[in-house]
Amino acid sequence: MNLLFLLATLGFQIANKPVYAHNATYNNPIIPGWHSDPSCTFVSEWNNTFFCTTSSFLAFPGCPVFASTDLVHWDLISNALNHPAQLPQIQTSTNAQTLGIFASTLRFRNGTFYLLTAWLDTDNPSTEFVLFTTTDPFDESAWTNAFQIQNPSGAIDPDLFWDDDGSVIMAFSGSPIKASYIDLATGNASEPFDMWNGTGYNNQEGPHLYKKDGYYYLLIAEGGTELHHSSTIARSKSIKGPWESSPHNPFVSARYTDRYFQTVGHSDLFQDAEGNWWGIALATRAGPALYNESIYPMGRETVLYPVSWPKGDWPLADQVMGEMSGPLPPRSSKAHSVPTFMGEPDIVDFVPGSSIPTHWVFWRAPAKPESFTISPPGHPNTLQLIASRANLTGDASFKALDGLTLLARRQTNTLFEFSVDVHPGFYKAQGDEIGVTAFLHQDHHIDLGLVFMGGSPNSKGRVNFRCRATDSDATNFTVPSPVVTPVPSSWLSETIRLYIRAENDTHYQLSAAPAARPHESRLLAAFTGALISGPDVFTGNLLGVYATTNGGNHTMEGYVSRWRYTPIAQQIDYNDFVRSWEL
Ligand SMILES: *[C@@H]1O[C@H](CO)[C@@H](O)[C@H](O)[C@H]1NC(C)=O
Ligand SMILES: *[C@@H]1O[C@H](CO)[C@@H](O)[C@H](O)[C@H]1NC(C)=O
Ligand SMILES: *[C@@H]1O[C@H](CO)[C@@H](O)[C@H](O)[C@H]1NC(C)=O
Ligand SMILES: *[C@@H]1O[C@H](CO)[C@@H](O)[C@H](O)[C@H]1NC(C)=O
Ligand SMILES: *[C@@H]1O[C@H](CO)[C@@H](O)[C@H](O)[C@H]1NC(C)=O
Ligand SMILES: *[C@@H]1O[C@H](CO)[C@@H](O)[C@H](O)[C@H]1NC(C)=O
Ligand SMILES: *[C@@H]1O[C@H](CO)[C@@H](O)[C@H](O)[C@H]1NC(C)=O
Ligand SMILES: *[C@@H]1O[C@H](CO)[C@@H](O)[C@H](O)[C@H]1NC(C)=O
Ligand SMILES: *[C@@H]1O[C@H](CO)[C@@H](O)[C@H](O)[C@H]1NC(C)=O
Ligand SMILES: *[C@@H]1O[C@H](CO)[C@@H](O)[C@H](O)[C@H]1NC(C)=O
Repeated sequence: MNLLFLLATLGFQIANKPVYAHNATYNNPIIPGWHSDPSCTFVSEWNNTFFCTTSSFLAFPGCPVFASTDLVHWDLISNALNHPAQLPQIQTSTNAQTLGIFASTLRFRNGTFYLLTAWLDTDNPSTEFVLFTTTDPFDESAWTNAFQIQNPSGAIDPDLFWDDDGSVIMAFSGSPIKASYIDLATGNASEPFDMWNGTGYNNQEGPHLYKKDGYYYLLIAEGGTELHHSSTIARSKSIKGPWESSPHNPFVSARYTDRYFQTVGHSDLFQDAEGNWWGIALATRAGPALYNESIYPMGRETVLYPVSWPKGDWPLADQVMGEMSGPLPPRSSKAHSVPTFMGEPDIVDFVPGSSIPTHWVFWRAPAKPESFTISPPGHPNTLQLIASRANLTGDASFKALDGLTLLARRQTNTLFEFSVDVHPGFYKAQGDEIGVTAFLHQDHHIDLGLVFMGGSPNSKGRVNFRCRATDSDATNFTVPSPVVTPVPSSWLSETIRLYIRAENDTHYQLSAAPAARPHESRLLAAFTGALISGPDVFTGNLLGVYATTNGGNHTMEGYVSRWRYTPIAQQIDYNDFVRSWEL
């Protein structure tokens, strides 16, 4: 525990005399890896379960829904957006890398879960509000198609709030924050009315409304999603205002601090079964170059903090740290059978009859689903990839419907090892490539590919390891040149294991070995995580496999197997790493 944390905790205790009985400690982030803009709700009707959703941009399946009974162990229970017919644009959107599904609000009302979100595209209309609902969030197929709700001022970040008289109010981003009454049956929205300007920072967004002790409370994000980010809160006796700003604002923020967890903001609040209040927010583990925001490949993650909210008074939050303490609900036995525990490693062998794990993602809904086949006839325990013409970057003529053969999962630990075996003999023509990638989006990725240079695959130098980085906006450093290494001739007919591992919190190592003799592993290159970080990038690092002909129009398929993602450690403060998982 560091001094700052101690001081913050002591200061808070003196000011508020909290009366929690059974505190326990926990570590942030609670949902690690790229999980931004969280919105959560507590549902007593579902065995006192907490449910959260986070932004997914172009990752598909999208709108992930997580469940927990103890606020610390989270399971991915479904993806609300899980087949393209629900929102066809998720398959055809071409140019926008950090558009797509933005921040959502998740609420439960009278038996139904509501996930209201924004879809952003470069086409018209550029921003739609879309609603997914279900009566069983554990059943992925039960989520409805996207239902459009009017977006009266082209805003983002729609909220969903039911007033005591049953009317439905949707607040959304704006300067000032605005709201409309909406009709959930027709999707109609009333003429918006102004709410609150916030406390003087830019990008007022991410509003959520609550009603408590005769007041409406309006919680918003301010300052942009970077170092000045924050959550601030105001209240009013009337939904139409005037709004009074909390004397304790910002409610949560890390701006102007040197805390390890930066960019804290975009919060939501909920109560547990005992009535304790909790807040969640996004935060960035900024790494050593904090103020320069230069290395944070996991992007914005979900963090938890306790809130004290005495009757009639303002809510007060504990500021976000890596190690925190609060009145956590006890860890109960799982109320449901849950497919994916967020902290577990991936041990995926593509056994016949299995499916692609629900926490893996494509970049956009795959235009050619047949490009990904588990254990096709004659190739048990493999994933068959049919190469896309486009490589991961694509070129000017790239169209989403051409397809991108990429399948990935989030980097969820500061230190990890990821490896996939690539079977030999996929080469047909010059440029054919199968590899592993650390992928932020199409303009930011680090690839380790097995690339065929044409000619006879068995002659020296015809099959190479190519380590190559793409960073469209590297302003503070030079993108390293590709590192091309011939595959040793004794490995040529063998299955090759390709590795990406985090050497430390700033650097990624790319290496390879014959799958049968991993001890022969060779380090091929090390690249900085700055290549897959960036102030204008809203996504976070994905680790996956890809196959491309690099522009060739022929058909090329290859086989990969033995997918492993091994969590090693989580960094929770400067010089403080915790072991990633225990079972
Ligand atoms: C609550 O848990 C019980 C026992 O695990 C289970 O049978 C029941 O279906 C759950 N109810 C809901 C609403 O999830
Ligand atoms: C709650 O849902 C039930 C069943 O769908 C419906 O009959 C009832 O009208 C709903 N109540 C409210 C207040 O919406
Ligand atoms: C509201 O919905 C109805 C159809 O249910 C439609 O006729 C009407 O034009 C809509 N109003 C607005 C303001 O869009
Ligand atoms: C927000 O600020 C603008 C500019 O100062 C002002 O004109 C407007 O009345 C304010 N709106 C609200 C709702 O406070
Ligand atoms: C930020 O970058 C500048 C130059 O690019 C460097 O001098 C400075 O030390 C960096 N600050 C931090 C906190 O990394
Ligand atoms: C480069 O560094 C400056 C400050 O030194 C910072 O404002 C900017 O965001 C950095 N750019 C990238 C792409 O990291
Ligand atoms: C329990 O945690 C809360 C929230 O951090 C804190 O304010 C309170 O002092 C703690 N209570 C005890 C008994 O440690
Ligand atoms: C991807 O393909 C484009 C166009 O063919 C090419 O310019 C670029 O170098 C390739 N990039 C990667 C990372 O493969
Ligand atoms: C991380 O690894 C890189 C590459 O080996 C090295 O240059 C850097 O000093 C390391 N950083 C730390 C904090 O150990
Ligand atoms: C592939 O086909 C396209 C469109 O027919 C053509 O423009 C392109 O030159 C072809 N590429 C190669 C490598 O032949």
